[in-house]
Amino acid sequence: MKSSGSARSGKTSARPIIEIGDGVRFRVGDIAKRCLDPDTRRIHIVSNRKVSGYYGKDISKSLRKAGFELSQSLVIDGERAKSFSGLQKVLEDFSRASIRRTDACLALGGGVVGDLAGVASSVYLRGIQFIQVPTTLIAQIDASIGGKTAINSRYAKNQIGTFYEPSFILTDVAVLETLPGREFASGLYEAIKHGAVGNRKLFNETKDFIEEFPLANLRKSFAQEEFRRRLREFVSIHADFKARLVSADLREKSSRADRRSRKILNFGHTIGHALEQVSSYKHFRHGEAIGIGMLVAAEISKSLGILRSDELKLLNDAIESVGQLPPTKDIEPKHLLAALESDKKIIGNSLQWILLESIGKPKIFRHEEIGRRVISSAIFAVLGRSWNFSQFED
Ligand SMILES: NC(=O)c1ccc[n+]([C@@H]2O[C@H](COP(=O)([O-])OP(=O)(O)OC[C@H]3O[C@@H](n4cnc5c(N)ncnc54)[C@H](O)[C@@H]3O)[C@@H](O)[C@H]2O)c1
Ligand SMILES: [Zn+2]
Repeated sequence: MKSSGSARSGKTSARPIIEIGDGVRFRVGDIAKRCLDPDTRRIHIVSNRKVSGYYGKDISKSLRKAGFELSQSLVIDGERAKSFSGLQKVLEDFSRASIRRTDACLALGGGVVGDLAGVASSVYLRGIQFIQVPTTLIAQIDASIGGKTAINSRYAKNQIGTFYEPSFILTDVAVLETLPGREFASGLYEAIKHGAVGNRKLFNETKDFIEEFPLANLRKSFAQEEFRRRLREFVSIHADFKARLVSADLREKSSRADRRSRKILNFGHTIGHALEQVSSYKHFRHGEAIGIGMLVAAEISKSLGILRSDELKLLNDAIESVGQLPPTKDIEPKHLLAALESDKKIIGNSLQWILLESIGKPKIFRHEEIGRRVISSAIFAVLGRSWNFSQFED
């Protein structure tokens, strides 16, 4: 993986080709010429109006200059784009644009666009080349790396998808300048997750970055050379962490339960996904749901006696330092528990929890090993912080 300079060519290694830099989007054409099949004639860009409005021209100009023909799909903004109808739209746009087996699809956007365009690329003509140009912090440090693609079904988030590696990932940290603060915060929660399950060094570096560059000054920070340098470094270390972890467990082997299985990246996601689902993907940004999910998982870890209070406090403080999480007062705990039960029905015994023994030491538990009572009390303890408790008194 590179944090500046040119991308590696060839696709032999398990690690993806990732080019990270400040302003690298202007070189997408050159990199595509180097990394794609020499027969690639057309590149189909998948984006949404907002992101395409900001960066579509820069990308198109560079690709045209490199000799590619272009076509595009603009999908709706938000999680609802990761649906059967969203997928159908992109696939039909591919057909209308006469995309061939040797052509490519480029995802320009956040995790939603990347996940959707990834599924479409992997099934169209049994797989066309795929390029990720992630434009949110979550997508740059997490979603674009690891080859997971997905759409949601009415039953569960990310239920339909494939493992499909992009030919390359082009990460321009300069595009984060237009990202709303709330979306930036959402990415910071996933960064804290990396530190919490990864190692204490990554956790401390993440915490320091968040404390040094408070979100309230984000716009001003972008004017500072020092911030841009640190942001590039921050994105690089997190992208590298994820790339390393997934390269050792490419298909997320279900039988693995060791602390280097890529499953550890699901820390905070058991409750996080349930929260997103019960609120119909409207109330929480993905990272915010994960922030709350990590608080619950850590609370469970403490109840089971595997996580010390001072380690729990370190994690809680880091999450708090990002800013205020959205209130959870409209979330009915019984709906959350029902969403967990429904997940369990769908995936059977494989419903697992990533808990913590300490920062950097995750431990995987089966749902049954924890017990309903511990889980509900942890949910009550965490969500109750923003509840008016009287609503639960009979
Ligand atoms: N495949 C994976 O491994 C993986 C990992 C983590 C998350 N995800 C998925 O990613 C999704 C969340 O991704 P997300 O948080 O990026 O959400 P998102 O794609 O919805 O983007 C968030 C918002 O930011 C806007 N936006 C994007 N880039 C922008 C920019 N540069 N400037 C201004 N606005 C911009 C988008 O239009 C959207 O409104 C979820 O569906 C989650 O399941 C997937
Ligand atoms: Zn996530």
